[in-house]
Amino acid sequence: MTKVRKAIIPAAGLGTRFLPATKAMAKEMLPIVDKPTIQFIVEEAINSGIEDILIITGKSKRPIEDHFDSNIELEQNLREKEKFELLELVEETIGLNLFFVRQSYPKGLGDAVLHAKAFVGNEPFVVMLGDDIMDDEVPLTKQLMDRYEKTHASNIAVMRVPHEDTSKYGIIDPEAQIDDGLFNVKQFVEKPEPKDAPSDLAIIGRYLLTPEIFEILENQEPGAGNEVQLTDAIDNLNKIQRVFAHEFKGQRYDVGDKFGFMKTSIQYGLKHTQVKDELRQYIKDLAKDLEAEDNEKAIEEIEEVLKEKVEEEKNKKQ
Ligand code: G1P
Repeated sequence: MTKVRKAIIPAAGLGTRFLPATKAMAKEMLPIVDKPTIQFIVEEAINSGIEDILIITGKSKRPIEDHFDSNIELEQNLREKEKFELLELVEETIGLNLFFVRQSYPKGLGDAVLHAKAFVGNEPFVVMLGDDIMDDEVPLTKQLMDRYEKTHASNIAVMRVPHEDTSKYGIIDPEAQIDDGLFNVKQFVEKPEPKDAPSDLAIIGRYLLTPEIFEILENQEPGAGNEVQLTDAIDNLNKIQRVFAHEFKGQRYDVGDKFGFMKTSIQYGLKHTQVKDELRQYIKDLAKDLEAEDNEKAIEEIEEVLKEKVEEEKNKKQ
């Protein structure tokens, strides 16, 4: 059986949800406390035993390449000033087996993945989306690789989401659960409205795929949003070979929208050795202030209603 050695990280999206910050900067470089989101993804790949990583980039994405390259001037400066801890942090991101290819037009996730065809060749591989940061004892990518070792088949990470959110995700129509958290799948549907969603099990940005997906992607018609959807190609792959869904039970942080990004920053801040104590105290104090503010507002509203009532009574009597 071929070992899973390669991962691809699509990073060509325009990041419109974070404008104006992403006008001239890659959204993948936005930091969670002090680490760019894409570094979390690369670390998950490496901690899972992935050897080669292809990042699919586009316009304004040069900082991603620079981030994973050496910066001789900076390194020299840190060495001279004996800032060895910082030097270590900077050096951690150098010398990885990273490759880059550009997607020239935003034609969808399916099209982005198709750009990895030559890199992947005839091997199973992993797709990791940058909007989802995963936290679990065993990295999610490794969980998918372990499933592959047993099933020799594609498997896609899924997680339950609130029913009203199905239109934000690829959703599966699960068949039998064949092992703890492993499902056969009847259908994969991209972004169905809640009324049409076959379940609440959503695709969450980690895929282990067999190379047969490329032939399908080459002929895949645009789907939802008029883009070539990876979910549609996976649904077609499932018609010729088994594609399983693996339910993720760890913690998922969605850094793809503003509120998710803010929540993730707070959660990681509360674990970060340099800021966790201060941040915890700040949040507690802030919560008290907000509570007091809300109470004050509520009292003012009640007073206002009472005043109106008194006024009404007065008018009636006159
Ligand atoms: C993409 C996929 C979708 C998946 C989601 C996970 O959507 O198309 O199937 O559920 O990622 O984050 P996007 O968030 O890029 O719109």
